[in-house]
Amino acid sequence: MRHFLDTIDLQRKELARVMELATQRQEVLGWPLADYGVALIFEKPSNRTRQSMEMAVVQLGGHPIFTRGEEVGFDVRETVEDITRIMAGYHAMIAARVFDHSVLERMASLNDVPIINMLSDKSHPLQSLADILTMREEFGSLKGKTVAWIGDYNNVARSLAEGCALEGAHIRLGCPSGYGASDDELARISALGAASISQSTSASQAADGAHAVHTDVFVSMGQESETERRLRDFAEFQVDDTVMAAAATDAIFMHCLPAHRGVEVTSEVIDGPASRVVRQAHNRMHAARGLLAFLCEVNDITKGDTK
Ligand code: CP
Repeated sequence: MRHFLDTIDLQRKELARVMELATQRQEVLGWPLADYGVALIFEKPSNRTRQSMEMAVVQLGGHPIFTRGEEVGFDVRETVEDITRIMAGYHAMIAARVFDHSVLERMASLNDVPIINMLSDKSHPLQSLADILTMREEFGSLKGKTVAWIGDYNNVARSLAEGCALEGAHIRLGCPSGYGASDDELARISALGAASISQSTSASQAADGAHAVHTDVFVSMGQESETERRLRDFAEFQVDDTVMAAAATDAIFMHCLPAHRGVEVTSEVIDGPASRVVRQAHNRMHAARGLLAFLCEVNDITKGDTK
């Protein structure tokens, strides 16, 4: 059974297939999820991921059921395994946003239904699909393009780096000391097929010649107690006009959102002509639909099957 816990759960050709499905019209995709449910469990708040996944399920003919994390109570009301086995009887797939990535791994290890990661402490692979789709729309292909990440090498950055490596892009990380990727992680991303990967502690150096400049909030969900220290540590990593000036002519700015204007990015950049953040957010739905259609294909889920 095929799950989607990390971007690299897709091989290079499969990522291309997801991108193809993301751009196909409903007449071509059909209704592979007709008569099926898809469970969407959120241990953390969400706007884009919930709405885009719900609509993607609907567009494939299925019925999404949103559930808050405390309602299922992973390992509180009952075990992760019991929850998964029970919900697998109602749904063609289960998607979850979790604090701890190992919860997703335990769910997937049962191989009852495909499990989809809607964000964990380790990765945010659905976001990476939308990021890649948006950059493909801009550049045609990411092969040989330079993608810069400014800020914390966090779950979003890790998934983006995996996707960019599969696409054959050059990856430039600009992270404060202590917030970057380890040498082992840089080697792992390189081995996935990145044209190159390098890391510095300078935002402008990372952005130098980049075709796309990405960033994320400096304080993620669950890190609120570290706010003061993180804002101090990331003070030199705001994406502003100076950072964008170091990038290639016509470089685009991207952010997974929600954003904090005046903190990790200036209003001039995120609301300016280089910004693609709205398109990137809209692409969450198209990318999710492509991923769900792909999981239907590879797991042989077709309209009319009975569970
Ligand atoms: N980018 C993202 O995952 O947004 P939400 O937290 O609103 O889902």
